[in-house]
Amino acid sequence: MNKIFLSSFLLGASLFANEGYEVYKKNCKSCHVEIMSEKEVMAKLSKMKAPPMIEVSARLKENIKTKDEEDDVDRHLFILFVKDYIMHPNLDFSMCHAGALEKFGTMPSMKEQITKKEAHAVAVWLYDRYENIEFK
Ligand code: HEC
Repeated sequence: MNKIFLSSFLLGASLFANEGYEVYKKNCKSCHVEIMSEKEVMAKLSKMKAPPMIEVSARLKENIKTKDEEDDVDRHLFILFVKDYIMHPNLDFSMCHAGALEKFGTMPSMKEQITKKEAHAVAVWLYDRYENIEFK
């Protein structure tokens, strides 16, 4: 791979991550706290509007696991799921705990708030942001 291609590819990847975080701050943060421990969640549950993003990410990673040896496949499926879910939230497809769903209800569709490109960026961010960070 030539150097120019590689560096523009890497630049592109980091722009995506940045854009995803911007989308999160603008459109998701009001309901989903970025990071907190399981203990804090329990303590603050009555004041929360939605599960924190670290939990959402961890739970989806736990659930979206193929037998494919390549991590990329699971990451790809995760991103596809999130992109679709936030545009068309549906309790039948939600992977949240039943108890959490009862408390929070379904999330509103982001269709009017964000573009498909932004949905992609925020889905990528949601996966990569919590790589190697455990929710506990
Ligand atoms: C008005 C509050 C609100 C906003 C804004 C919001 N969400 Fe949610 N979200 C929720 C609630 C409540 C749930 C839990 C119920 C559910 O799964 O629908 C949830 C669940 C989710 C899930 C989990 C689905 C699953 O199956 O486990 C994802 C992924 C998600 N949100 C992503 C996002 C992203 C990305 C944004 C911003 C673009 C966002 N949410 C904005 C309230 C919100």
